Amino acid sequence: MQRIFSGIQPSGIPTLGNYLGAIRNWVALQRDHACIYCVVDLHAITVWQDPRQLATQTRELAASIIACGIDPQKHILFHQSAVRAHAQLAWIFNCVARLGWLNRMTQFKDKAGRDRENASAGLYVYPNLMAADILAYHATRVPVGDDQRQHLELANDIAQKFNHDYGVAFFPTIEPLILGPAARVMSLRDGTKKMSKSDASDQSRINLSDGPDLIAQKVRRAKTDPAPLPSEPAGLEGRPEARNLVGIYAALADSTPADVLSEHGGKGFGAFKEALAALLVESLAPIAAETRRLLADTATLDGILRDGARRAAAIADPIVAEAERLVGFVGP
Ligand code: TYM
Repeated sequence: MQRIFSGIQPSGIPTLGNYLGAIRNWVALQRDHACIYCVVDLHAITVWQDPRQLATQTRELAASIIACGIDPQKHILFHQSAVRAHAQLAWIFNCVARLGWLNRMTQFKDKAGRDRENASAGLYVYPNLMAADILAYHATRVPVGDDQRQHLELANDIAQKFNHDYGVAFFPTIEPLILGPAARVMSLRDGTKKMSKSDASDQSRINLSDGPDLIAQKVRRAKTDPAPLPSEPAGLEGRPEARNLVGIYAALADSTPADVLSEHGGKGFGAFKEALAALLVESLAPIAAETRRLLADTATLDGILRDGARRAAAIADPIVAEAERLVGFVGP
């Protein structure tokens, strides 16, 4: 069975983008894969996180992932900082990856912005840690949203260079799984910008914790254009906001943009937004309720994460020990 690995940062409340681009696909993959899912707190601190909030956000995210349908008993759910192998392998990968490769990472350029000199060194080498997350488990399939594609290409470059430099066939090739009609959910305020936990405007995103009224209000206010919906996907060309809402609808309805448009084409956005808001509330309200229920018992939640970390370490530790032996370390 191929091993699946994926991660998500506890840097805020998970959004509809995280859900449709990643978590929902993680749930489906549980049926026929061995899955390891990780709340990546080491990644989160590449930008400043208030220590009092980081622990809360880590638990909230874990609860939300379980509420979405991840089974932490059959599969593995844990927080990254609890398994030392990630940081250990990341150091080796810091020495394998080339500066030229990291300089090409568009996400670093976006996140560092104009004040690049002031970005943390961690933000710069973040893709090396991400490669370590996956390769510490010899995972071969990685379900992510479209924005992580470049990082996974870099992970494959790192794996190949390690194998080449040490004359081994130790790390496998990773296959990105970028699935469904909502692999890139866009901001509700600007159809050319990714929906993000860190956008200054809460109106730009749907959070998995939003209640029905707030969801309906955000959808009603979502930016659109004046034309009615087209009846075929080709008519979405040059209409990023319309394309985004149709993609979200298709993903939630387990359908395709073509089917959504054959049903809703010709309608104005008023009617379509009502239908979309109803579908969102129906999908997300149970998740929010279950997240709240799980968060009422943090002792149980912490137990789940601890147990996941123990089982994760049992897989990663021997793999990373072997990587260290290949590098030439004497060992503890
Ligand atoms: P993060 O925390 O930014 O996002 C978690 C997952 O959600 C997806 N995603 C989206 N998908 C569609 N539309 C959007 N607007 C959207 N926003 C986010 C992301 O693609 C991701 O799949 N570096 C990663 C976390 C990570 C990781 C890993 C992933 C760390 N190690 C190893 C895979 C394997 C990140 O920051 O994701």
